[in-house]
Order: sequence, then structure tokens, then C-alpha cells
Amino acid sequence: MSTTLESAVKNLNRKGFLDIDIDPTLDLAEEITKLKKEKNAIILAHYYQESEIQDVADYIGDSLGLSQKAESTDADIILFAGVHFMAETAKMLNPSKKVILPDLKAGCSLADSCPAGLFRKFKERHPDHIVVSYINCTAELKTLTDICCTSSNAEAIINSIPEDRKIIFAPDKNLGAYLIKKTGRDMVLWNGACMVHEIFSNEKITRLMQRYPEAKFIAHPECEAVILEKADFIGSTTQLLKFTQNDPADTFIVATESGILHQMQLASPNKTFIPAPPNNNCACNDCPHMKRNTMEKLYLSLKYEMPEIVLEERIIREGRKCIDRMLEISVKAGFKA
Ligand code: 13P
Ligand code: SF4
Repeated sequence: MSTTLESAVKNLNRKGFLDIDIDPTLDLAEEITKLKKEKNAIILAHYYQESEIQDVADYIGDSLGLSQKAESTDADIILFAGVHFMAETAKMLNPSKKVILPDLKAGCSLADSCPAGLFRKFKERHPDHIVVSYINCTAELKTLTDICCTSSNAEAIINSIPEDRKIIFAPDKNLGAYLIKKTGRDMVLWNGACMVHEIFSNEKITRLMQRYPEAKFIAHPECEAVILEKADFIGSTTQLLKFTQNDPADTFIVATESGILHQMQLASPNKTFIPAPPNNNCACNDCPHMKRNTMEKLYLSLKYEMPEIVLEERIIREGRKCIDRMLEISVKAGFKA
């Protein structure tokens, strides 16, 4: 463990976060709230963050809501409690702001599954295609993309593309296959997937559904087709949360990262939420990237304003276009944060 700021900064790139001892008696939630006020900072958190982090956030949302908030905020600092591609998106949307990510190594298996160099060659093999990329991709990949989408607006984005245009969809093959089914469009899919949503156990979910016949089974579209086929409702994290609030059922089996259960339980304290089990010995599915962020790392990153997301001017200029197009279409389609 590093003890001085100087050695922690030296090790920042290797470790991904500031590794400094913190007084264990500190009330981190209180300290973070104080720092937020002092520095005019906003904390944007994804639903997959641990509960304590969600509780200190100013806004908790899905990828679309988080992008819309990142674009509209007048805070000086955006502390992004999420993963790297989300913080990059916030920086592209609001380049004059300082964007900090508590752990630079909070990556994403889906974004990693689509390296820009390989994708460029793939795109060259389909020259007459429009490129739609799921927002879970690197900033460099966004420079090769025509329109971005998230899980909440993906169907509206695909439907906004004229019928005679051919489409490449990257990087999530599961979301892509789901969209082909929903929209009837024949898309060329990049072969990527999310390590968290790919490992739900069909067998264990079937057993749970038999044990709780009254429960509704709800799933994120990053899940495999065999899981989605069983679902009573499919949607982004925000859409899943809203469904549990509005649906009369009192038990839900939830196939997405287990962090979302915190807001579901807060919104509907009398309902029961069961995380769908994965194909391993764990009872629920955690994203190891999302869970790299901790209260300690949040506190240190806000205190010292690092690690900061820094992007080349070219990446911001070229990568932003596909996000702007997505936001324009989303507003027209009525998606609001
Ligand atoms: P949404 O919150 O936009 O549904 O995305 C889920 C996800 O996997 C984020 O990494
Ligand atoms: Fe990436 Fe999947 Fe983790 Fe989301 S849950 S950050 S898509 S690895």
C-alpha cells in the first residue's frame, strides 16, 4: 500500500487508481458529500455500482440517462462511478469538464471484444453499410461509427435508418440478434459479448421459474437468445427498474448484473427480487469491472481529482458525432433522463 501522494501518483497508471492509506474512522459518504460541494462536482453512477456508491450519487441511471446527464451538467467536475467507456463518453459530450474515473482499469469485456484496428478491416469488407455501435465500445471505435445506441433506444435507432440501408451492428452479438428479431432488419453482427450477461444458466433459471411460478422473469438484452426467449419483459436497466415498479407482480427473477437490485428494492420495498443465477458457483452475477470502484477509490479520486480521462482532440471531434446523432434521435423518440 502506498502511503504518500507522490508515490501513489507515480504508480497511478500501473495500478489504475490512487493507492493511498485512508483513516479507517473516516465517514466516507460524509467526506465525499463535502468534497462534492466544495468542488462543484457531480457523481454520475451506473446501477451496477455497489449500493453505498449509488447512495452518494447525484444521478443513477442507464447508459442513455448517464450520457444525457453528462451532456447537460453545469458541474465543474464529473466523477463517473461506472466503467471506462462511460467516462470517455461523458468527456466527449462535455470536453471542457474534468472527468474522473475512480479506477482507470474499470473496463468492459464487451468494449474489449471489438478492437478498433480489427473493426476497421471488418468495416472495409462491408463498404456500403451504415455502422451502428452499442455505446459499450471504446472512444476509438466510436470514431468508426455512424450512430451509437444504448439498450434503451437501440430499437428506435435501428428503426430510424431507411429500409434500403444495410447495417453493421457492433459489438454485442446478443443485443444485435435481439434487434434483428424485433425490427426484422438483416444486420451484419460483430461477434462480441458481455462476460456478465453471457453466463446466465438456462437450467438454473428454469428451476427458479418452476419454484416461483407467480414471479415475472425479466432480462437485459445483452443476455443470450435462449434466456431472452423465456423473459416476460426485456429492457435496459432503467426499463427493467420501471417495469418492476409498475407491474403488479410481487416477485421478479432478474437477469442482469445484481447491482440493479438495490434500486429495485428501494423503489418497491414490499416486492421480492431474485437475482438470476450464473453458470458458476455464485448465486448472482457481478461485473468485475464495475465492482472495481469502491467508496475508498471514489473518495481519493474526488479529493485529488485523478485519475482523469484525457482524450485526443481528434477522438473527441470524430467520436462525438455518433453520440450526438443518437441523442438527437432519442429526444425525437421521447427518451429523457
Ligand atoms: P444499460 O444500463 O444502458 O442497460 O447497460 C447495461 C450495461 O451492461 C452497462 O455496462
Ligand atoms: Fe461491460 Fe458487461 Fe460489465 Fe456492462 S456488465 S460493463 S457490458 S462487462
